[in-house]
Amino acid sequence: MSTFGTLFRVTTYGESHCASVGAIIDGCPPGLALSAADVQVQLSRRRPGQSNLTTPRDEKDLVQLQSGIEHGVTLGTPIGLFVKNEDQRPHDYSETDMYPRPSHADYTYLQKYGVKASSGGGRSSARETIGRVAAGAIAEKYLRQAYGIEIVAFVSSVGKVRIPSSVASQNGDEDNDDAEDILSLEYAKLLKTVTRQDVDANPTRCPHAETSERMIERIVRAKDANDSIGGTVTCVIRNVPSGLGEPVFDKFEAKLGHAMLSIPATKAFEIGSGFRGTEVPGSRHNDAFVRKANGTLGTATNWSGGVQGGITNGEDIYFRIGFKSPATISQAQSTAQYDGTPGSLAARGRHDPCVVPRAVPIVESMAALVVMDELLLQHSRKTSAALLPAITTLPPTMVLPREAEKSA
Ligand SMILES: Cc1cc2nc3c(=O)[nH]c(=O)nc-3n(C[C@H](O)[C@H](O)[C@H](O)COP(=O)(O)O)c2cc1C
Repeated sequence: MSTFGTLFRVTTYGESHCASVGAIIDGCPPGLALSAADVQVQLSRRRPGQSNLTTPRDEKDLVQLQSGIEHGVTLGTPIGLFVKNEDQRPHDYSETDMYPRPSHADYTYLQKYGVKASSGGGRSSARETIGRVAAGAIAEKYLRQAYGIEIVAFVSSVGKVRIPSSVASQNGDEDNDDAEDILSLEYAKLLKTVTRQDVDANPTRCPHAETSERMIERIVRAKDANDSIGGTVTCVIRNVPSGLGEPVFDKFEAKLGHAMLSIPATKAFEIGSGFRGTEVPGSRHNDAFVRKANGTLGTATNWSGGVQGGITNGEDIYFRIGFKSPATISQAQSTAQYDGTPGSLAARGRHDPCVVPRAVPIVESMAALVVMDELLLQHSRKTSAALLPAITTLPPTMVLPREAEKSA
């Protein structure tokens, strides 16, 4: 369905070639200073036509806030917002209408609904993500102001070009599982320090300049061959309090995975050490507890990616998402029409040769929506529990003293 979240609820609407796309955001705390400019920053990072690495569809994607805000302050009532679709060219698709695009959503949408949008990807188009990005920007502003939470995503690979092993180590020697760190110290440092400014310094949104150059070559090679290429986006969320996540079905990483895999073109999600964590023994993988400089308990390493038992532990949360090579390519492909007649499709229209540079703000926004919703849920639990008298009848190991509580 088109609604995400429990207490911070976002409903998006719109198709690729309809009049507008947008969202209703319900549950935003009242009293948040908010202007269109706060939302526009992320929409402009998402918009098409930013460089020759993305689709030439020229949309300014200027947001119009409709409700829920007066004199620059949220009222706590639903926030309605939209962006006009301006550079539509539905006729680009007319010749190809006989064919469901291989690996796109044309066939499945028609099978499911029995009717589909006449052109473009309809609801499956990445235009839909505008509503999410706008909502995520609002959530992010609250998270930054209330908790100092920072969310930074970046492109970590394009095709086989990835941030190199000196920065992000890969496991090599299969007989010696003690030999290498799951993730190198340099990579851990990158996750600790990377900023949006670093990310936006390169058109690929890979903060490692040398790798970015090689990524550009890879994307241009795909484009010149009328083809496309995939990639990965890594995201880190800093300063998240412990205690977020709703076991057992709504564990924090399950909600993150849900959010990320709802982004078009995603094929994979891993948190913390992810698949690499399966290659080392527990003695290397465990995150030992230590007293931190500020006196609180934390972990010496963070292969868990900031989540244990489906609940945040106060360490940085980091995860990686795999995006497939976009389906629509102008290279001729042997395929079949809707009625099964074999043929060749060379898709027309304007398309992204690689989606990851534009996916970065979408990933950040979905991360913000998850953190925001989980924070509000934990807040309601904590606030209601705090109204009760302190627990004095249980053994001390069973109860967290109120003064020691550092979660939301
Ligand atoms: C930022 C972004 C841009 C995209 N641009 C295109 C595109 O130009 N052409 C295309 O075929 N798919 C594009 N996609 C992917 C499609 O929306 C998506 O792959 C398609 O609807 C099929 O759904 P699925 O891949 O999630 O199964 C894009 C995705 C994102 C996140």
